[in-house]
Amino acid sequence: MMSLNNKRILLGITGGIAAYKSAELTRMLVKAGAEIHVAMTPSATEFITPLTMQALSGHRVHLDLLDADAEAGMGHIELARWADLIVIAPATADFIARVTHGQADDLLTTVVLASIAPIAIAPAMNQAMWGDDITQTNLKALKSRSIHIWGPAFGEQACGDIGPGRMIEPQEIAERCSGFFENTRLNGIKILMTGGPTREAIDPVRFISNHSSGKMAFALATEAAAAGAQVTLISGPVHLTTPDRVSRIDVESAEQMLSAVMDHIEGADIFIGVAAVADYRPVTAEKQKIKKTKNDMTLTLVKNPDIISTVATLSPAPIVVGFAAETENIDVNGRDKLENKGLDLLFANQATETFNNDEVSIIALSSQSQQTLGPGSKLSVARLMLDLIADQLERKTNQPES
Ligand code: CTP
Repeated sequence: MMSLNNKRILLGITGGIAAYKSAELTRMLVKAGAEIHVAMTPSATEFITPLTMQALSGHRVHLDLLDADAEAGMGHIELARWADLIVIAPATADFIARVTHGQADDLLTTVVLASIAPIAIAPAMNQAMWGDDITQTNLKALKSRSIHIWGPAFGEQACGDIGPGRMIEPQEIAERCSGFFENTRLNGIKILMTGGPTREAIDPVRFISNHSSGKMAFALATEAAAAGAQVTLISGPVHLTTPDRVSRIDVESAEQMLSAVMDHIEGADIFIGVAAVADYRPVTAEKQKIKKTKNDMTLTLVKNPDIISTVATLSPAPIVVGFAAETENIDVNGRDKLENKGLDLLFANQATETFNNDEVSIIALSSQSQQTLGPGSKLSVARLMLDLIADQLERKTNQPES
């Protein structure tokens, strides 16, 4: 059964006779639960009308790079960041050549160049064009850039030739889209995570806390479970529903979070600390509500335990991944935290940055490297993060025991 629930797919259509099949493809993807935006090259509109594609996708079709109206709605960069997956079907020999050479001379090639989302291309062309050395060289270059090539099929062509070059059928493209999101890289891996804020009680009705929504932890837990991991998420108070196949433990304070982590850490391959743990708590939580007096009030705070550092000192320790929301000097402060807390990987972002449309951008730091993930959709960035985490796990597993 195909499922593309909540997945955002940008369908690019270029000018080949197979463009009429993109209508059926759109219908199938929408039926499987995906949200679809369609971008067409000018020649694609000679084969199928934007109106048809608009009716089937439920969104205005993106046609021009320099259309002020469209840019005011969803501009080309926003579109590039919106997508979880970009599928070009059909992709002509000309489009393949332009993408290979990094051209950005129309909307579709520009979006492909500007996006961090995975890209799949379903070629459609005459068999001689397909077999030509230059097309094959271009395809090799695209594959080396991790662009997926789906097809073509062998058979009778619109021009009467018989050979390879037909676009694979819409059903097969839709199934590949669905399969694409079934990542199995973390199959059977045990992940323990923390997420959300903690609350440090002052008295029965008051507490110290922070603005963490828990969204990043829940998005990562969703993706990790979808990639086959057994995920336990220890969460502070948040207003979010538990993702499918994730086991959730609710806690309030940092001390409760630490104790839940220690209860569940045994056997974990990976620990991901996403929680915004309160660094301090009131020295005592009053049993009764504190009454107002004429005087000012002083609250004495004591330091909370550092949960992630505690996990990093365990022996054997799992792969330990931290998060840091910084307001300044992200990379320097991030690298300090990576080293001081003994982490394998740290994802740092700008705490003050706000993104429309759930877009995120993150700096990933490890002792070996530093790279920026995004800006892109939360799902695309979560997948890139999990890939880096899986790389760390693989590196550790392949290391000879000392
Ligand atoms: N963390 C933790 N326990 C704490 C504080 C932080 O496990 N008591 C974890 C967070 O879950 C995150 C990482 O440490 O993965 C960094 O959190 P952050 O609040 O940025 O670090 P702090 O050490 O609190 O530094 P500061 O607040 O001074 O920036």
